[in-house]
Amino acid sequence: MKKVITYGTYDLFHYGHQRLLERAKELGDYLIVGVTADDFDKTRGKINVHQPLIERIESVRSTGLADEIIVEEYEGQKIDDIKRKEVDIFTVGSDWIGEFDYLNEFCDVVYLDRTEGISSSDIRSEHRSIKLGLIGKSRILTKFYNESKHVNGITVDYVCTEDPKEINKLKDEDVVITEDYDVLLEHCDAVYIVSPPIRHYEQIKKALNLGKHVLCEAPIALREDEFDELIELAEKNGLMLFESIKTAYSTAFHRLVLLAKSGRIGDIISIDATCTSLRDINTEALEKEWSSIEKWGPTALLPIFEIFGTEYKNKHASSLILKDNFDIFTKIDFEYESSVASIKVGNSVKSEGELIISGRNGYIYVPAPWWKTDYFELRYENQEENKKYFYQLEGEGIRYELVAFIRSIQMNKNNSYIKTKVSKAIAKTVGDCIYGDVNKLS
Ligand code: CTP
Repeated sequence: MKKVITYGTYDLFHYGHQRLLERAKELGDYLIVGVTADDFDKTRGKINVHQPLIERIESVRSTGLADEIIVEEYEGQKIDDIKRKEVDIFTVGSDWIGEFDYLNEFCDVVYLDRTEGISSSDIRSEHRSIKLGLIGKSRILTKFYNESKHVNGITVDYVCTEDPKEINKLKDEDVVITEDYDVLLEHCDAVYIVSPPIRHYEQIKKALNLGKHVLCEAPIALREDEFDELIELAEKNGLMLFESIKTAYSTAFHRLVLLAKSGRIGDIISIDATCTSLRDINTEALEKEWSSIEKWGPTALLPIFEIFGTEYKNKHASSLILKDNFDIFTKIDFEYESSVASIKVGNSVKSEGELIISGRNGYIYVPAPWWKTDYFELRYENQEENKKYFYQLEGEGIRYELVAFIRSIQMNKNNSYIKTKVSKAIAKTVGDCIYGDVNKLS
């Protein structure tokens, strides 16, 4: 019996897939189809696959062509499968020519002509491309622009900035640069905002009133009533209002929160998060700068509110103020019913940017810079039980965040990784520091 094996994602199953499987089947007597796992797709850069694994398997099964369906979960698995299942022929479409020649050592490799004119990517972008405008002043602007190229269903034609550094970085790109927010809004369906937080409320409100979806760097607003008003306005106008915290979309961070909640380190007693950076701050133009709590507060608060919730009993904050309530270092301590948490944030103050989640049985350690990590450890008293976890992180999480935002708009269903309750608690905590509910260090 001649055994044939082929692999693919089979997202939004189409005619090209059908023809490939038919011809693969004709190459032998028994066809094995490997369908890629969601995580495996992510690590190889296919990030906006629309259907979950179970649906994609079902599409392949319903063709009746596969004698066996397996899941492809790791790099190098093809060699294992071919040896274990005693496969005679490995086949894929001609878009892969040359890529799998290394398998010739184990079986015959056949590249079948790819069906012209159709692909899952084309079907995915048939949803009209969403025009995203970018506004603000930060290095993140250009990062966002570059990351948007990896996400299908999105185009960035306009950027609104006065930042000479960003203008210079974008000057050779196919993008219109304007200093006029109204012009930007006129030419987009959705907007990404990375301006100093004091301007968020007014900029978000304007966009929502003009029917534009909004993705805004956290915090969305600095006062609870303003936060509620914006959420209500978005809902009333049927628009997405997303808070942007890249870390929330990093797989490592997402998984460590799940592990912590699933009891792997026992009851959690304490969370300590530190985020700092060293920057020159222009004291003459503070309204254009980010204070430490504005820049790092939302990220540092995220693991605390995600794991312990937002109903703390007490909060005590201390800040080192540069001038006019502008802090360059802030420490906040939270007290919950039976646990505690603290953040330390600095902009133009430096410390070790680690995250430690301490439990009754062990702790989770995430080394600096924890907010863009691809790695963390579970550590126990008996070191032999320690475990290390690695996850691929592409584009600091921006890519995944954009995919969640765009898909939410397309499906008209909010897929944000950050709960509204958490966003609101972040806005309140940052706002409290800025409006003076803080012990000022001198
Ligand atoms: N395939 C094909 N003809 C097409 C599309 C895909 O023969 N028009 C083949 C691929 O070469 C591969 C298999 O079908 O052997 C599964 O491909 P997959 O990557 O899942 O599909 P694509 O449509 O190429 O997906 P994408 O656009 O996301 O790359």
